[in-house]
Amino acid sequence: MSTQPILLITRKLSKNTEIRAAETYDVRLNPEDKLYTPDELLQKCQDVDAVLPCHSELFSADMVAMLPERLKIIANHSVGLDHCDLAALKEKGIVVTNTPEVLSDATAEISMLLMLGAARRASEGDQLVRSGKWEHWSPSFMVGTQVTGKKLGIVGMGRVGQIMSKRARGFDMEVHYHNRTRLSSELEDGAIFHEDLDSLLSVSQFLSLHCPATPETTGFFNQEKIALLPDGAVFVNTSRGALVDEEALINALKSGKISAAGLDVYLSEPGGNPALASLDNVFMLPHIGSATFETRDAMGFRALDNLDAYFAGKEPNDRVA
Ligand code: DGY
Repeated sequence: MSTQPILLITRKLSKNTEIRAAETYDVRLNPEDKLYTPDELLQKCQDVDAVLPCHSELFSADMVAMLPERLKIIANHSVGLDHCDLAALKEKGIVVTNTPEVLSDATAEISMLLMLGAARRASEGDQLVRSGKWEHWSPSFMVGTQVTGKKLGIVGMGRVGQIMSKRARGFDMEVHYHNRTRLSSELEDGAIFHEDLDSLLSVSQFLSLHCPATPETTGFFNQEKIALLPDGAVFVNTSRGALVDEEALINALKSGKISAAGLDVYLSEPGGNPALASLDNVFMLPHIGSATFETRDAMGFRALDNLDAYFAGKEPNDRVA
């Protein structure tokens, strides 16, 4: 009989991650990559020592209450933790870790892609050529908003926000940011701090969200906040859909208050919002901010590093509960 800890891996991870996991753990894999229902997830958690889930698995307080005593650690394959009721997990004595840092470059790449794609009407252009309906060209055809030299507002200047700021400077953008605490001048690297979110919004010709979804930030990007943006601002979100009042965003996209949006995340996932999908001025991706080969390995390895530390009796580096 194996003496290795039993590890449930809830989704299909990178091959390298699954190979490495199998060297140390008695792994329960999900080769079909089936999204477990809450009941299936609960049932699969019953006879394991550890779980390596993604943000697609919800560990609500109700679910946590039914987890077995045997389950000691949830080593997330995500930086976001809004799918975990951390207070309930902590109370139950289950260790929780996440995977910060390793996905920041990949996510900032997608933020840049969305910013450029939204401003320069990439999805409309792609659709037109693809559909065979591209019949004319003129100087007034598919004119978009120039990115170079504009003011970019960043909400949440953590690791992804800082890399986004650096990349945006490559486009000569003037970067402004709002964060709970001001960064050192070295980390700010020329970005202009706004202690007040409203002040940041009022200058943001482009606005990109990089803060986590918490009870304090949920739904903060609403009609009132949108009204503070310069007319015709471009909005980008690679963080979490829960930050946004989607109805208010749709109204602003229809009125032109927001000229275009680039979105990777939605209130309802998978699937997204059909009302957003019906708008030409939205460039949309299906939550793929961290989806690069390099980053998938790095996320998997980081989660395994946390598990290895825990089972070696050490404090996992990325412990959050
Ligand atoms: C994260 O790590 O939070 C990303 O959204 C992918 O799960």
